Amino acid sequence: MDLTTTYLGKRLPHPLVAGAGPLGDDLGVVRQLEDAGAAMIVLRSLFEEEITGEQIDALINVESYSDSFAEAGTFEPEPMTAIGPYEYLEHLRLVKGAVGIPVLGSLNGVTPGGWIDYARLLEQAGADGIELHIYHAATDMTMSAADVERQYVEIVKAVKRTVKIPIAVKLAPLFTAFAHFAKQLDDAGADGLVLFTRFQPIDIDVEEFEVLRTRRLSDSSELSMRLRGAAALSDRVRASIAISGGVHTGLDVIKATMAGANATQLVSTLLRHGPDRVRTMRLEIEAWMRDHEWSSLADMRGNMGVGRIADPAAYERTNFRLSLR
Ligand SMILES: Cc1cc2nc3c(=O)[nH]c(=O)nc-3n(C[C@H](O)[C@H](O)[C@H](O)COP(=O)(O)O)c2cc1C
Repeated sequence: MDLTTTYLGKRLPHPLVAGAGPLGDDLGVVRQLEDAGAAMIVLRSLFEEEITGEQIDALINVESYSDSFAEAGTFEPEPMTAIGPYEYLEHLRLVKGAVGIPVLGSLNGVTPGGWIDYARLLEQAGADGIELHIYHAATDMTMSAADVERQYVEIVKAVKRTVKIPIAVKLAPLFTAFAHFAKQLDDAGADGLVLFTRFQPIDIDVEEFEVLRTRRLSDSSELSMRLRGAAALSDRVRASIAISGGVHTGLDVIKATMAGANATQLVSTLLRHGPDRVRTMRLEIEAWMRDHEWSSLADMRGNMGVGRIADPAAYERTNFRLSLR
């Protein structure tokens, strides 16, 4: 059975990637992920801005991040105790030394110089690729949608000019003309598009006048919007596509592949069940393929994608109309 795929120009044995987050913080866990068969690992994001000790605590929740989830995880990697740039680069070197699978850094920059400098440092530290975790807080009333998109494209072009390793762009799901924007990133040289950033839910404590930030692990219901995004791009961009968000079972991976994904990133399911979940999901994929007489994931990739439809806009419109009946 052939599960191989190509993501960011790298031939992988299957599409199961450990996504950006705390899983890469702990060298022991990184080795367990490799043993369980993870095809690639993405480290948590390096944030450009200077981070104070207090913010570090808030960000990585040094005490125990699993306590902060609504649902307590059974599995808890040891978080990195500091995530300044030097510690991050040193950690990246250690992870690279510990495993043979490709390791990606993730970068969340602020300034044009920051994106470039840190991308270069990540490459020098041995990253096999970089995920650009571009975050735009949509609160600036002076910036139009076109300005925001232009900024993303400029970041991609600048980083591509700087490094030779492949870069992926992790996108928020909030772009109005999503397919058009993705094509701009593709033309700018992005090697991969990661769909999508997952926003943690917020609430308001109306007694204490406080914003409440809960950290909740995902479930498969969050896959739907990613399938839609991947299907919109499948066979229409040169960049490879990864789905991040709501991938929990072998069947989720089958759906992601049919929508056009080259890779699926796992975070919540690994935090919930531990690294060995990779092995289980791989077995689930193989069992499903055997039952349904598929011999290769490549054969099913994108067969539910918009790229195979003559008039995607009319198709979407019909589906929208029917969904309201
Ligand atoms: C505790 C935690 C930390 C995370 N840290 C990062 C991060 O540093 N950078 C990033 O791009 N995504 C981060 N993510 C988001 C994940 O990479 C992923 O996009 C999201 O959790 C959806 O995937 P899932 O449904 O498999 O959890 C984090 C997620 C969790 C749960």
